[in-house]
Amino acid sequence: MAPTTLDLFADDEPQQQPRRDRIGEQAFVLRGFALPWLEQLLPALEGVLAAAPFRQMVTPGGLTMSAALSSCGTWGWTTDRNGYRYTRNDPQTGLPWPDMPEVFLQLAQAAAREAGFAAFVPDSCLINRYVPGAKMSLHQDKDEKSYAAPIVSVSLGLPAMFLFGGFHRSDKSQRVPLLHGDVVVWGGVDRLRYHGVLPIKDGRHSQLGEQRINFTFRTAN
Ligand code: SIN
Ligand code: FE2
Repeated sequence: MAPTTLDLFADDEPQQQPRRDRIGEQAFVLRGFALPWLEQLLPALEGVLAAAPFRQMVTPGGLTMSAALSSCGTWGWTTDRNGYRYTRNDPQTGLPWPDMPEVFLQLAQAAAREAGFAAFVPDSCLINRYVPGAKMSLHQDKDEKSYAAPIVSVSLGLPAMFLFGGFHRSDKSQRVPLLHGDVVVWGGVDRLRYHGVLPIKDGRHSQLGEQRINFTFRTAN
């Protein structure tokens, strides 16, 4: 007998759901979530970087960060001897940060929705570039005006060991391996958790080469 229309909706073959690992009450790793966006994401990234190239920034304490930074969106996160803050203009060019590409916004909102944050409107995307050896020390994201919105963090390229800690720097951290295409979302009661990245190991990623690139989407203002 020929299959009927009903067969198309039979649920004996459940739809493949991307894996969602819970790392906190309101914190998730969405495994491979960014992969379907890559074809549009990477050319859009090239456009952003052509206008606002990666650069090394200095912390208020005078240390040069090992990750190189760029930004897009209305607000770009910057640091120098005067402190951490969001600026409308790229301090290197004096021009507004590049617009957030539509595909960046779509990905960030889809990931937030998947983690239970339906109304995420990021106005900032920090872009971090890590070469092997580069790291991000434990810190809280707290330069935003409100903590109501979640953080959406996209990993591309070389693997990383993400540290997801507690509410004090000295609290024990979970070690969360992150691969190309993984997206971490944390918000709500987990919004102010300490987090960081261990030094990136030597390696070469087939698409991105000897680097890891991270997008951090936030609502800054
Ligand atoms: C950050 O917290 O700014 C970056 C996190 C990451 O690179 O995964
Ligand atoms: Fe952060």
